[in-house]
Amino acid sequence: GNLLVSEEKLVPKSVKEMSIDGDEPPPDYKANGNSFGSKDSSAQVPIPIIDLSLLSSEGELEKLKSALSSAGCFQAIGHGMSSSYLDKIREVSKQFFELPEEEKQKYARAVNESEGYGNDIVVSDKQVLDWSYRLSLRVFPENKRRLSLWPKIPTDFSKILEEFSVKVKSMMEYLLRCMATSLNLEEGSFVDQFGEQPLMLARFNFYPPCSRPNLVLGVKPHTDRSGITVLLQDKEVKGLQVLIDDNWVNVPTIADALVVNLGDQMQIMSNGIFRSIMHRVVTNTEKMRMSVAMFNEPGPDNEIGPVEGLINESRPRLYRNVKNYGDINYKCYQEGKIALETVQITNN
Ligand code: SIN
Ligand code: FE2
Repeated sequence: GNLLVSEEKLVPKSVKEMSIDGDEPPPDYKANGNSFGSKDSSAQVPIPIIDLSLLSSEGELEKLKSALSSAGCFQAIGHGMSSSYLDKIREVSKQFFELPEEEKQKYARAVNESEGYGNDIVVSDKQVLDWSYRLSLRVFPENKRRLSLWPKIPTDFSKILEEFSVKVKSMMEYLLRCMATSLNLEEGSFVDQFGEQPLMLARFNFYPPCSRPNLVLGVKPHTDRSGITVLLQDKEVKGLQVLIDDNWVNVPTIADALVVNLGDQMQIMSNGIFRSIMHRVVTNTEKMRMSVAMFNEPGPDNEIGPVEGLINESRPRLYRNVKNYGDINYKCYQEGKIALETVQITNN
């Protein structure tokens, strides 16, 4: 019946093609910035660790500001979620991905849809797919949830996702307030731009071991389109790398930390003071890796733009105001363009 999937579909295209064609990755793979070896992956640049429970102190606030203006990412601790709590989320995620393929296909992402289970959205037949499986589910606004795509197995999946997203939402709103305060702005300067009905998308990522890890990526280099992404990493298996000073830096696994990655929309709102971080995921031969990314962005009807207080003579407005950056980003992805550049103001 139509629940049976061909092997073709189960194996991400990238490695399949390479094992047929030999050792060279397809040419456009390199063009995507995936030049292994030219940039050092073992650079010892520490990823900042920020204790959210200390953000009422000047010192920690200063650390936050400097992390976001230099790297655009940090590891958040002190967020009130224990490592055993985070393990529950890791556990249901693993349980889902370990289900038989037929069961997972009940939640398959339909063509031209962003939610559901599957591999990359295919936009061209030359595209090299990421070495990953994903389950994407919108969690906010609540009335836009497509519950038919929420896994029934494991049985506590929905309850756990629901609970986690509420916690991430309040953590994210708190962070947005702290970020504004760190720049001497009104504390609502960023959070207000997210509007009454901000969007949150949960993406469960699963990276199987890969026999040719030096030829494929779990996720190709990209910046997130979001405002803020809160990422729960695998407890043990590393894979996420961020680009800092032109070096790919491994993000360590910390059991009770949540990685915070700034997306393009925060770069716009902060008039370029805070940076969206370029990142990618590498694979390994032995262990599967999982992660859960919670993407937070302003509602589609909210116009966002650089906060007035961050525009002055020495720092002119860098971006025009924009609505529905998500759609712009998707269109750019299809056309191979960089979304941020299309909203940048060029004075020449
Ligand atoms: C992503 O950035 O798309 C995934 C990050 C991760 O799996 O760590
Ligand atoms: Fe990402």
